[in-house]
Amino acid sequence: MGEEDPGAVFESTGRVHRAMIEDFLPEDWDWTGRRTLDFGCGSGRVIRQFLPEAERAEFWGCDIDRPSIDWLQANLEPPFHFFATEEEAKLPQEDGFFDLIYAFSVYTHFTDNWAGWMAEHHRVLADGGLMLLSFLGEGMLNSLTGDTWDGDRVGMNPVLYGYPWELGGPIAFNSEWWIRAHWGRAFEVVTLNPIQGGDPPFGHGMALLRKKSGTITVEELERLEPDEPREIAALQYNVEQLRDDTLRLREDNARVRAVMDDQREQITAAHATIAENVRLRQEMERSISWRLTAPLRAARTGIRRLRPPVGNR
Ligand SMILES: C[S@@+](CC[C@H](N)C(=O)[O-])C[C@H]1O[C@@H](n2cnc3c(N)ncnc32)[C@H](O)[C@@H]1O
Repeated sequence: MGEEDPGAVFESTGRVHRAMIEDFLPEDWDWTGRRTLDFGCGSGRVIRQFLPEAERAEFWGCDIDRPSIDWLQANLEPPFHFFATEEEAKLPQEDGFFDLIYAFSVYTHFTDNWAGWMAEHHRVLADGGLMLLSFLGEGMLNSLTGDTWDGDRVGMNPVLYGYPWELGGPIAFNSEWWIRAHWGRAFEVVTLNPIQGGDPPFGHGMALLRKKSGTITVEELERLEPDEPREIAALQYNVEQLRDDTLRLREDNARVRAVMDDQREQITAAHATIAENVRLRQEMERSISWRLTAPLRAARTGIRRLRPPVGNR
């Protein structure tokens, strides 16, 4: 691993992602007058690359991380617009507000409410509007879990529930057939690259979707695809993955408990030593010789007090 300057990486990967967005968009795409949402914009790595276009188009960024949004509002607004989101899948914009939504490494972390967010993104997109999402597919399963990819056993497979964000957060894997079946209920799948390849985004999948008109509900998005045996296989595999997660947590738990037991033993031993020392001291103070020599000790303490400190002699 080279010791690359984080600022330079932030800048260069932001540029790469901007170029990738433009590669996915239709050839006749023109930013003028368009409204774009960077969903889960983080600290603005990608959106800031659109500074020239922000003069003639609206670029909005949102994130659930309030400090990032505070910083972006203080430093990049205007020309950009930023707002914070909550856990609930809800955006403040009216129906059909955006022409384009893109989300890098955000749906990759949705373990529970992916369908709520997808329905909400569908709502705020104009008819025919585009959504560009990165997802975790076969390019990432092995490096993140050690398992070998079998697309017939992956649908929407969330793992690492509640995993700390500073260690990478929870993640979910999606396969091509599942995306076509479920996301395809709300969107036409325009382009689906299971492995985008390159560095970055090193093996994330990318999906370009076009909104189908009408409305869509969470239940409609989540419903198992009828006559699709891979739905059951994926659920079975997900049970295995979650079982492995649970076992790992139990092992971690056992390790933490062993350390705590060890520390408790050390504390108990220290308490016993202190108690023994106190007992010996009390015993000594009660002894006849200690009491007989008490005046000598008092005199020595008095002499010490009368002596000037060493530096003043
Ligand atoms: C891995 S980071 C990617 C940040 C940014 N898209 C980028 O590529 O630099 C994932 C981001 O998604 C944000 N996020 C997670 N859940 C969210 C939600 N429900 N609404 C908005 N943002 C969310 C996180 O706070 C984080 O900033």
